[in-house]
Amino acid sequence: MSSVGIFYGSNGGATESLAYDISEELIRSGFKVEIMDIAEVSLKEVEAFDNIIIGTSTMGMRVLQDDWEDVLDRISNMSFEGKNVALFGTGNQEIYPDTFADGLGVLFDLIRNSDANLVGQWSTDGYKFRESNAVVDKKFVGLVLDDETQHNHNKARIKDWVKQLTVSFN
Ligand SMILES: Cc1cc2nc3c(=O)[nH]c(=O)nc-3n(C[C@H](O)[C@H](O)[C@H](O)COP(=O)(O)O)c2cc1C
Repeated sequence: MSSVGIFYGSNGGATESLAYDISEELIRSGFKVEIMDIAEVSLKEVEAFDNIIIGTSTMGMRVLQDDWEDVLDRISNMSFEGKNVALFGTGNQEIYPDTFADGLGVLFDLIRNSDANLVGQWSTDGYKFRESNAVVDKKFVGLVLDDETQHNHNKARIKDWVKQLTVSFN
């Protein structure tokens, strides 16, 4: 059975809870999943997986969730060669339309030059915002979930995204 490691950073629990929702969908699709809080893992544990999902909330313009700040340097030096990496981010498009899901863009910048096979890009259709550094080539670099203003979209978005990932994950 293929294994997926999900690593998340969460201040108030929204990203954590969504990480578990993603995990449940992957399990339904036949994957074995380990889910870990980035505040409590060593990066060696991240490297152990061939399929990796990384998630963060956004705490301001180009600001990741707090626990990621402690591991940024180490992550940018990690090798993701031969690994499938998918990213997800949470944010609030109504209160922060100019920095929507920026944290996801920061994660992307960290690993864009690694040898990771980045998967899981996501359409911006259905979201309403002005600026986001998580948009590259007109798409989000990973799944964006707005639990505060579009909670009712989470389930379908996660389902579609996981379906997309299962094609790429090995
Ligand atoms: C101090 C603060 C700053 C925030 N800044 C942004 C922001 O710039 N862009 C955005 O999309 N969301 C922003 N948010 C919204 C959070 O990303 C959102 O509430 C998220 O669901 C929190 O997830 P968590 O509970 O897992 O940390 C901010 C929230 C807080 C509390």
